Amino acid sequence: MVDTKVFLSGIELSNPIIPASGTFGFGAEFERFYDLNILGSISLKGTTAQPRFGNPTPRIAECPSGMLNSVGLQNPGVLEVCETELPRLKEVYIKPVVANISGFSIEEYVECALAMDSQEQVGIIEVNISCPNVHGGGMSFGVSPKAAAEVTRAVKDVCSKPVYIKLSPNVSNIAEIALACEKAGADGISLINTLLAMRIDLKTKKPLLANVMGGLSGPAIFPVALRMVYEVYKAVSIPIIGMGGVSSAEDVIEMMLAGASAVQVGAANLKNPFACKEIIETLPAAMEKYGIDSLSEIIGGAH
Ligand code: SIN
Repeated sequence: MVDTKVFLSGIELSNPIIPASGTFGFGAEFERFYDLNILGSISLKGTTAQPRFGNPTPRIAECPSGMLNSVGLQNPGVLEVCETELPRLKEVYIKPVVANISGFSIEEYVECALAMDSQEQVGIIEVNISCPNVHGGGMSFGVSPKAAAEVTRAVKDVCSKPVYIKLSPNVSNIAEIALACEKAGADGISLINTLLAMRIDLKTKKPLLANVMGGLSGPAIFPVALRMVYEVYKAVSIPIIGMGGVSSAEDVIEMMLAGASAVQVGAANLKNPFACKEIIETLPAAMEKYGIDSLSEIIGGAH
């Protein structure tokens, strides 16, 4: 019997599979498909202080081996998430969850972090400084080590729970940003968010997305994500949640060998709502095939 258990900042996960933020709603929406309690955890839809309608449509485009999104952080606001979404999730999911927060100022990150930190079911606060689809916030904090460190420090100051910083791949040196976050007190790093990209509609000869650019996710970005997890693992000693195009049990093993302690599955959920379930079910056989008894023992094994 193989051991799929892993740990994030002292929190035990029965397996490393976590649906990624923005691909699984607030969790309860997926309850009709399977018993969510098989999941290691769930990363909730990115939440801001105020409700947001998001960007104009079209805001989704397909690509070979992936998709673009320019959703723009649509969400009902942190109050509604705490008062409605979290209680709804609690009825169908009993494990600690990852609360993904975003902001347009340090004060907004702090407001969201404070609210989420007080929620019993929140195990980890995941600070998204990497959304490529909004102006004046999101990714602008994630492309400078100084700004990334400032957000980290401010959120850490008000949180009692572990704080993980979600990084952007749209930088030349992701390890430098990760290191700045670690030095500012981050408990862990989540990476990667989507790669800035675009498509042009040949009929209109104009950008396909109303926001012009969006974030590329899906299997196309897996090797980029793997490379960045590998680089960040070398630079920091805090845990990494790896993500980016993960769609099979084999991808999970690769991510963990590169240095991830847990793995988020994103775009795969949008194509197949059973993606996480299928990965969890096929993981033991994949581990046996590659002679792995315990997943926690292979973290960073490729180094
Ligand atoms: C979005 O809502 O635009 C996606 C979230 C993200 O990429 O961080």
